Amino acid sequence: MLPNLVLIGFMGCGKSSVGRRLATLTGHRFVDTDELVVRSEHRDIPEIFSTSGEAYYREVEKQSLERLVGVYGIVLSTGGGIVLCAANRQTLKSIGVVAWLDASPDILFERAIRSGRRPLLQTENPRETFDSLLQKRRELYGSTADFRIDCTRTDHEETAHLLLDEALRKYRSFES
Ligand code: S3P
Repeated sequence: MLPNLVLIGFMGCGKSSVGRRLATLTGHRFVDTDELVVRSEHRDIPEIFSTSGEAYYREVEKQSLERLVGVYGIVLSTGGGIVLCAANRQTLKSIGVVAWLDASPDILFERAIRSGRRPLLQTENPRETFDSLLQKRRELYGSTADFRIDCTRTDHEETAHLLLDEALRKYRSFES
């Protein structure tokens, strides 16, 4: 049986796009914690951050993640800050094989800034904010993930294939 696949990584790494392709490849259902938060709050993420604050968002994100424990047959894409909470890191591991999607900082920044809708980058110097957040989080992604995929030079389709191969290798090694 194919395990759940969990994608973590910084803003702009392509978790949702790669996750959707993985869902098509595997037949698993695609689930995105950001979408779960938006659905339960009936408002978008910039609005949650601006009217209720980051701490509130993190709490709803945590509850949304916890509801997925025991759910099978999913590819789970997550918000870039989900690993900040220690309990979330354990929950992610309990849900499935965890892959860290990584890329060079320049590529991540270019992709992250493109939508113009990421609340944490609405600062005077977005690149400085971005670098400082990335530096703080890299270790958390590394300690939570079963493996890391560098997608600096691969498109979403190629990344999805690489990730699936590696996830299956890891899963088989856990089983034996
Ligand atoms: C966040 C990343 C966002 C979203 C929220 C907070 C973060 O998701 O969860 O804006 O703390 O890095 P993406 O990683 O999909 O952009």
